[in-house]
Amino acid sequence: MPADDSTGVPMAVGSVGPGRWRRVVAIGVVVLVLGALTWLWNGSRLASAYPVMSMGYADYGGGPTAAGHQHQGRSVATLVATTTRPADIHVVLTACKGRVTLADGRAVDGYSLNGATPGPTLRAVEGDLVEVRLVNESVPDGMTLHWHGLDVPNAEDGVAGVTQDAVMPGQEHTYRFVAGQIGTFWYHSHQVSHEQVRGGLLGAVVITPKIGLGAVVDVLALVHLYAGERTVNGRAGDVRVPAPAGAVARVRVINTDNGPMPVWVAGTAYRVLAVDGQDLHGPTPVKDASVLVTAGGRADLEVRVPDDGRAVRVDTGGASILVGPVSGTAAPVSAPSTSVDLLTYGTPAPLGFDPAAATRRFEYAIGRRPGLLDGRPGLFWTINGHLFPDVPTFVVAEGDIVRVHLTNTSGEVHPMHLHGHRLVVLARNGVASTGSPWVVDSLNVCNGESYDVAFVADNPGVWMDHCHNLPHATEGLVAHLVYAGVMDPYLVGGSTRNQPE
Ligand code: C2O
Ligand code: CU
Repeated sequence: MPADDSTGVPMAVGSVGPGRWRRVVAIGVVVLVLGALTWLWNGSRLASAYPVMSMGYADYGGGPTAAGHQHQGRSVATLVATTTRPADIHVVLTACKGRVTLADGRAVDGYSLNGATPGPTLRAVEGDLVEVRLVNESVPDGMTLHWHGLDVPNAEDGVAGVTQDAVMPGQEHTYRFVAGQIGTFWYHSHQVSHEQVRGGLLGAVVITPKIGLGAVVDVLALVHLYAGERTVNGRAGDVRVPAPAGAVARVRVINTDNGPMPVWVAGTAYRVLAVDGQDLHGPTPVKDASVLVTAGGRADLEVRVPDDGRAVRVDTGGASILVGPVSGTAAPVSAPSTSVDLLTYGTPAPLGFDPAAATRRFEYAIGRRPGLLDGRPGLFWTINGHLFPDVPTFVVAEGDIVRVHLTNTSGEVHPMHLHGHRLVVLARNGVASTGSPWVVDSLNVCNGESYDVAFVADNPGVWMDHCHNLPHATEGLVAHLVYAGVMDPYLVGGSTRNQPE
């Protein structure tokens, strides 16, 4: 009996000819493949409105599980500053979209706060109660303000769809928190943030100690790309800060862009006083080396103005701050080939908690693979092998000591940022930290690297834990840290106005 080679089915069965069989099989295969693709596509579609807590799956990190944690407990909206005293600092920030003139005179299309970008610098003294009234005059997508690096109460964290609804044009929202940390921070919108931060809805936050800074010259260096050009405080090129010969300055470098930024001081020694608003212990002089400022991160550098009438140049690669006498020069030098290793810089000091007593341990493994995200095919980031939104939600209880093992095999660097908490770096690639406690809110995780970090779960709420290369966040590199017993009333998704990424 002749058989159909491609199917192996005898021709006589049901008296159907070989051509007909091929067609039937081919149609069957096409139907199956289309069905599978439709199922995958549909499965990748995001719900039109959902709480971020319901995203993906709960990861308890080896600690107690909290059954039903998503549906009961304290609302995020109740997690506010407890004090009722009047605010020490009142600021009104009015946001607009449109053409804005930078400090250096260039006009760019973007956003402004009180007519400028960067927006006004928020200055407070440690312990001040800060009240910021955000008025959205004309930002069409709505906006929020997030206090990057400040461990504010959850309801003040300013993430659209997570801790509040986006503030739409004509609306306003008041933030209220105690300035509990000393150092250099920044604020930015956390609604459509990949576009609004790039466009300029941001500014610096400087919190000084009660005793003041002494004779130090306090210098701000907020770095941002406007229309593709690097600026410091909205100025391209050399930005001058007057200071007398011999003066000591604290230069607060803030990286508000999406990639890591080496910063160096030309031809003279400096010290790295703080990283991400946390003073380093025992910082030693550095010469001919840069310090890498993570996207979203900060570094406070101590420089001394020379005695001979020259200035000192802090170079961010494309724009510089020159501190010194008004006519003082400072020749640029090219970027040093070495950089300060914060794993060994400075001297150890107590952490204030014992990471060895961790009560939860999480993996945060960043990879990349082809797939579908909300129905769009592409090459997307994965977290522990999962594509957004099927990613882990890290569940903790108040009082936990939490360890996270971060790895990156995705082929690109990721500046990882956890809201509401400060991370202590314990080890990189398995090598333990031997320098000052290295405490961050934004950690540059290069491809092929691993980090062990730890933190104390002392700030209940629902917190984003995402990549601060903000376009990467839109490509799915977003997870959340959720406290057991906290319930989130806010929603993200296409039928809401909230788009935090
Ligand atoms: Cu600087 Cu999630 O933010
Ligand atoms: Cu990234």
